Amino acid sequence: MKHFLNTQDWSRAELDAVLTQAARFKRSPAGDALRGKSIALVFFNPSLRTRTSFELGAFQLGGHAVVLQPGKDAWPIEFDLGTVMDGEAEEHIAEVARVLGRYADMIGVRAFPKFVDWSLDRQDRVLQGFAKHSPVPVINMETITHPCQELAHAMALQERFGTTDLRGRKYVLTWTYHPKALNTAVANSALTIATRMGMDVTLLCPTPEYVLDERYMGWAAQNVAESGGSLQVSHDIDSAYAGADVVYAKSWGALPYFGNWEAEKPIRDQYRHFIVDEAKMALTNDGVFSHCLPLRRNVKATDAVMDSPACIAIDEAENRLHVQKAVMAALAGRGTRDAGPE
Ligand code: CP
Repeated sequence: MKHFLNTQDWSRAELDAVLTQAARFKRSPAGDALRGKSIALVFFNPSLRTRTSFELGAFQLGGHAVVLQPGKDAWPIEFDLGTVMDGEAEEHIAEVARVLGRYADMIGVRAFPKFVDWSLDRQDRVLQGFAKHSPVPVINMETITHPCQELAHAMALQERFGTTDLRGRKYVLTWTYHPKALNTAVANSALTIATRMGMDVTLLCPTPEYVLDERYMGWAAQNVAESGGSLQVSHDIDSAYAGADVVYAKSWGALPYFGNWEAEKPIRDQYRHFIVDEAKMALTNDGVFSHCLPLRRNVKATDAVMDSPACIAIDEAENRLHVQKAVMAALAGRGTRDAGPE
């Protein structure tokens, strides 16, 4: 049985097939690829885009989605094995995943890190717990990576550049300021998909402390070796933006300070100038800008950048709907798993 936990687990041909199917769904949204099928969407964290696009995507293909929020409208869940469950949790993932699998044909999971101990969070225990115990395919709706966002991002770039071949494009993943330390998931994912697509990728961040986890740096290096792109880390804004075709922005917390965020705050506060603005975008090769959203205007990117023709963030958000329909259809056995003609 196949899950969709990370794009790195899927072949390039499988990802291309999903993107091709997503383009078909964009042209022709209604269908019956999920007729008689259902998905349980388990949200441990808030969402606007993910919840709406999965629910409506299932509906548009004749399927049905059920949303559950453990600890709110569903019982709190335990994920550790061998635990004496005398705390908050009322049931164990071993039962939860198997029961949901008796009702639904797929399970989507959103579970952000706890932001206390990265060595624990990097195990992705909630998602892995579902994948281990579920008898049906599990979809990552953002944990410590965000593979659905990756596909929507890739699709938006392919649309803007008018080609599915993104090789050779200069791609800048830039850290941006945010008052709080945020999840590295989208940054991990952007690095993964940009290198997978063979782009020349620069990870721009304030200091070496903001470099991403070695697992994702390793995936990026592996992708570069296989797809022929490149990867470099830079702390210099001007040289990173110079000639860029793509600027993708995200804020995240520095991993060495994980769980010690009061110590990280004075460092991050020195780098408010990493905001994406018109002056920086003017250094690019008439580059496009995007962000996964939600985005704090005039903190991460200026109004001028967000409202410029260069900004494809809304296209990327729309594409969440199309790529997730394609992923669900593929996992339901109703999509093309081999790359075919568009
Ligand atoms: N980009 C994204 O996942 O948005 P939501 O958090 O609103 O779902």
